[in-house]
Amino acid sequence: MANMIHCLCNNINTAKVDIAASQGAERAKDVMRVCGTKFNCGQCRVSINARLEEWRAINPALEAAE
Ligand code: FES
Repeated sequence: MANMIHCLCNNINTAKVDIAASQGAERAKDVMRVCGTKFNCGQCRVSINARLEEWRAINPALEAAE
């Protein structure tokens, strides 16, 4: 997948979501916490959660290890 911006308010792209996922983020709010920020408009929740699902599909062994 291309590295796209998921959260315009906080400049969170796919790479940042993936890093957060590798650190245990399961939901968009977890990504915000890992990135040290908070939701502003909240428009990114669906996009971030979709990327987290994709990440888990790509990394099933890592998810199982949690
Ligand atoms: S786009 Fe993420 S809080 Fe606004």
